[in-house]
Amino acid sequence: MKNEDFEKTLKKYIEIINGRLAELLDGEYPKEIYESMRYSVFAGGKRLRPVLLLSSCEMFGGNLESAVDFACALEMIHTYSLIHDDLPAMDNDDFRRGMPTCHKKFGEALAILAGDALLNKAYEAMTDSIVSNMDMKFVGAMKCIADCSGTEGMVGGQVVDVLSEGKQIDLDTLMYIHKNKTAALITAPLKAGGIIGGCSERETELLEKVGCNVGIAFQIKDDILDVTSTIDVLGKPVFSDEKNDKMTYVTMYGIDKAEKDLEKLTKEALDIISGFAGNSDFLYEYIKRLITRIK
Ligand code: IPE
Ligand code: IPE
Ligand code: MG
Ligand code: MG
Ligand code: MG
Repeated sequence: MKNEDFEKTLKKYIEIINGRLAELLDGEYPKEIYESMRYSVFAGGKRLRPVLLLSSCEMFGGNLESAVDFACALEMIHTYSLIHDDLPAMDNDDFRRGMPTCHKKFGEALAILAGDALLNKAYEAMTDSIVSNMDMKFVGAMKCIADCSGTEGMVGGQVVDVLSEGKQIDLDTLMYIHKNKTAALITAPLKAGGIIGGCSERETELLEKVGCNVGIAFQIKDDILDVTSTIDVLGKPVFSDEKNDKMTYVTMYGIDKAEKDLEKLTKEALDIISGFAGNSDFLYEYIKRLITRIK
């Protein structure tokens, strides 16, 4: 895919996502809750998860308009997870997406509530969409997002992540953490987008494998950037894992093996993607570029 076409498609997706997020978060009262929600959502994230959802949907021939609320729901769930992840009781970080974290700007109580509100708003958006479309495939998409976000997904991963601080953990435990705290919210948009686009059950299974590989690779890269980048480039503090005495793929194996393994995981995912019947050029290129991302 030509770079120009890739950039054009990415821009199109991000504009759709940001436009709809602005509508979903345009409430007025209580002023502080909407301000804190908008502050974190519009602080400048990459929009990885909603872009994955829209591109997966389009790859299977689905229509973007029917998928956009699910894409925004995922970005709201992801942003809530970041707000809570940064709290003093969790990673205790002061910067996120290049700005002071939600609790630094609005205080802890409002940051907790902004997270709660974003999580709830995600389900409001999805149920509204289901009610207006009345098509069971949207229920399937919401179930997939719900399952990946909860105790059997992101929340479960975050629990084991915080409980493992200061401990020597084995590879199985580290993989459980990566798979759940991160890969679950990367699998969710690929699968939910596919379901909305009308993919088959077999294709859903393949999307699950893609999400798992890309998600683990994504977290390995995040752990590498945590020790090799700078706060200015990354938009969040470096050495956060060391500060919290967390074992990561990098502390377990070193940067060289971490780099190699994340490339291998990504390559396997790309092989699956290139086998899909629809036009997978964008998704292929987007996932390939995650290997060399700098933030
Ligand atoms: C950060 O996710 C949290 C991890 C799972 C590593 P992103 O790197 O996608 O963060 P934003 O959305 O661009 O801020
Ligand atoms: C967090 O992993 C993943 C979430 C579910 C939020 P990290 O704690 O490594 O994410 P960053 O580095 O703070 O973005
Ligand atoms: Mg964390
Ligand atoms: Mg963190
Ligand atoms: Mg990190």
